[in-house]
Amino acid sequence: MTELEALLVAKARNLESHALDAELALAIDVTFPASEPALGSLHPLRRTLEDACDYFERRGFAVVLGDEIETEYYNFDALNIPADHPAREGLDSFYLRPGVLLRTHTSPMQVRTMQNHPAPLAIVVPGRVYRRDGVDARHSPVFHQIEGLLVAPGIHMGHLKGVLTGLFRQLFGPSQAVRFRPSFFPFTEPSAEVDTTCPGCSASLVDGAAPCRTCGGSRWIEIGGAGMVHPRVLREGGYDPANVTGWAFGVGIERIAMVRHGIDDIRVFFENEPRVLAQLA
Ligand code: PHE
Repeated sequence: MTELEALLVAKARNLESHALDAELALAIDVTFPASEPALGSLHPLRRTLEDACDYFERRGFAVVLGDEIETEYYNFDALNIPADHPAREGLDSFYLRPGVLLRTHTSPMQVRTMQNHPAPLAIVVPGRVYRRDGVDARHSPVFHQIEGLLVAPGIHMGHLKGVLTGLFRQLFGPSQAVRFRPSFFPFTEPSAEVDTTCPGCSASLVDGAAPCRTCGGSRWIEIGGAGMVHPRVLREGGYDPANVTGWAFGVGIERIAMVRHGIDDIRVFFENEPRVLAQLA
């Protein structure tokens, strides 16, 4: 009996040590393929913002950030936007209380920065802005802009066009068409709107197809506004329009990212579907 038990114990030990040997052999197999760690990536909006800031930083512009909560004075009055302008109504802007709202554009940082820094001034302002827009393929109540402002003696519209053309070449590559269209903003004179060809259109160019939902059939989408800083705005910033002139622009980051990635619907950037984001990385 003892002999039998002894044999059983010996056999059990033997089996266990074999099992352990087999496990150890696996555990130290340094050639065994490791599982790939999942790496995250920058969101396409963040990348577009960073690329745009990078373009300007390399040209000597400073990046400044503003608050998303702004006063009516900096968002409108200081920019020569009259009291009866439709953008000032609660229907178009999100007011937190009388005189205080979520900024509707990054332009309030123009006068804020001028008031704190003497000319010459070269800044860009990336950030989030808010408007009471209904959501569709092109619109979202929250979106991103980058503002640019350059003020110095002798600055003219040609400088603006050159710098923006360079920016779009950098962001879109050389073959993407960009056009400047005469327009109006209370804070620039003269003013222009900037368009580029619609990223949603290639599929609907066939005769008889429904008009493209991204551009409504015009083949162009607006990506921003620009112009020569209005003398009243320069004065509000403490600058003398007799000594300096300047240009300013504000462009929409979502629209630019749509064009860069050939995306026909702005909502893609806010839904954050991981499988879609992975393809845009
Ligand atoms: N702030 C304007 C907008 O959001 C764009 C703009 C900026 C136009 C600077 C001219 C100069 O529509």
